[in-house]
Amino acid sequence: MIKKLDMKTADKVDSNIEQIAQLFPNVMSEGKVDFELLKQMLSDSVLDCDDERYRLDWVGKKESLLKANSSINKTLRPCKEESVDFDTTENLYIEGDNFEVLKLLQESYLNKVKMIYIDPPYNTGKDFVYKDNFTQSKADYEDEIGLRDEDDNKLFKNTDSNGRFHSDWLSMMYERLLVSRDLLKDDGVIFISIDDNEVHNLRKLCDEVFGEGNFIASVVWKRKRGRDNSAKWFSKSHEYLLVYSKNKSEFKTNYLELDESTKKAYKNPDNDPRGIYRMLAVWARGTQSGVKYNFTDKDNNYFPERLWLFSKENLIKMDKDDKLIIKGDNIYRKLFIYENKGKIPETIWDNTSNAANAADEIKSLFKNILFDTPKPIPYIEEIFKIATNKNDLILDFFSGSATTAHAVMQLNAEDGGNRKHICVQIPELTDEKSEAYKAGYKNICEIGKERIRRAGKKILEDNESSKEPKDLSNLDIGFRVLKIDSSNMKDVHFHPNKLSQDLFAELESNIKEDRDNLDLLFGVMLDLGVELSLKITPKIVDSKTIYILENKELVACFEDNISLEVIEEIKNQSPYKIVLKDECFESDKDKINAVESLSKVCSVSVI
Ligand SMILES: C[S@@+](CC[C@H](N)C(=O)[O-])C[C@H]1O[C@@H](n2cnc3c(N)ncnc32)[C@H](O)[C@@H]1O
Repeated sequence: MIKKLDMKTADKVDSNIEQIAQLFPNVMSEGKVDFELLKQMLSDSVLDCDDERYRLDWVGKKESLLKANSSINKTLRPCKEESVDFDTTENLYIEGDNFEVLKLLQESYLNKVKMIYIDPPYNTGKDFVYKDNFTQSKADYEDEIGLRDEDDNKLFKNTDSNGRFHSDWLSMMYERLLVSRDLLKDDGVIFISIDDNEVHNLRKLCDEVFGEGNFIASVVWKRKRGRDNSAKWFSKSHEYLLVYSKNKSEFKTNYLELDESTKKAYKNPDNDPRGIYRMLAVWARGTQSGVKYNFTDKDNNYFPERLWLFSKENLIKMDKDDKLIIKGDNIYRKLFIYENKGKIPETIWDNTSNAANAADEIKSLFKNILFDTPKPIPYIEEIFKIATNKNDLILDFFSGSATTAHAVMQLNAEDGGNRKHICVQIPELTDEKSEAYKAGYKNICEIGKERIRRAGKKILEDNESSKEPKDLSNLDIGFRVLKIDSSNMKDVHFHPNKLSQDLFAELESNIKEDRDNLDLLFGVMLDLGVELSLKITPKIVDSKTIYILENKELVACFEDNISLEVIEEIKNQSPYKIVLKDECFESDKDKINAVESLSKVCSVSVI
């Protein structure tokens, strides 16, 4: 084919806009760039502007955009005692406000997450969400009604008497979604559970954050069995699952296994050695589209012109492969079960478990229903089956009772996968009157962690006692616990006038006294963008501990007075990155020599 030349230069404007849309989908509105919003994205202060256009706006939108783009001075500290298989697991359980946690994960997990599932507070008027600064004017009111989390942070109860009821919820979601989008891989996807309270707003919000073009589906899930006849207008039995991809052209859904009733339709009346099959029509009786031709099969049966559902070549091929069945004037094709790719996911899920089943699942592990709003495992598993492959990383940053972690382990056990999870949950205190509190679980993280411990054990036990136990020796039922905290480093940015003699003494070490070497290691992993699940091998050289990370991504030593022998060992590891403590050298001369020698191998940083 001859390609006709355009004889003009390419339209750069369109491609520039496309690039901006890819970088900042939130500034696109009906195909146009919102320049005010773009300016705001590139600014470090709130910009003033008055404008009218079609878009979702609310009080506090710009502040939350600013917050999403600003940095925080915090870290994640490992907690070995509460972890399971700390040294070998690739799963993470992170305690803290998810907005801060997501920001901390920006470097280490940029473009690494295949799927995000979240089940945020639905804004029912009763939810507790983490207090953000944008409603500071109501501080007194919050004190009156506010709960606090374990670290005495205020939790904000968003009731419908709040004049910014929707705005506050939208700001809370907006800044979190903006930050989480960057963690998704190009073929990544987010699934968000939501109900009628905010589905309309969330849809618009996601159109803005992910780009309208990346909308994939709005699934209706039947969450409640039966009908509530005492309902005032309608018995409400469903909620939604919004699905957005990071980049629609990269994202693919998996086909799902055929359900039992469909499988039953496959039979083998003529004992075909190729197995069970279904008989399907090959020509259209109604007004369906098709191709008109006449056809003579290999046994010379003649079929006059009609509307065939396949091309003539295809039909001849099926005939040659012995896949056609002729019954009088009728002709069918055999679709063998091995040829069936499975079923494409549908947007109505009326049989994918329900809320009552989810409560039973919690009860079977804890004897009591310790958590009010869990999702059922088969529902979460269905999401993973649709959107993940066996080695993918899954993130849930409103993890609640940790159903996501449970479902990841369960599905891996079923299909031999090695999916990994990161669960994030704020240590929201449980109500003193609740079953959870009475059972000794003082905050939701305690419930989540204990659920993963019990679920992991149960999956292994159930497998052992099953008729055909599988080899689950590689199943990862562990998790590393990390907790958000203030930075490991002392604030050395004091105003020089304020430096007193005492402060000088205190500043001798720039590391806080209560931080140990493992804290420092995780702090630098975050700073250098190293995955927090990498295996850590400690090695003692000259009675100093050196940490060697999986794949030699990083070698670190936070000891004082390290010898040449230690430096040599670090060098011999040939890592990609080296981190040492600034005060680990006895003199400046030693420091210069060591850094010069190590720099020949890779980049060296000091803290
Ligand atoms: C609807 S529940 C999630 C339930 C979960 N899908 C399950 O199956 O158990 C929402 C959870 O988000 C938590 N949450 C709310 N605000 C949060 C925040 N800012 N950071 C982390 N978690 C938060 C709440 O404590 C609650 O446990």
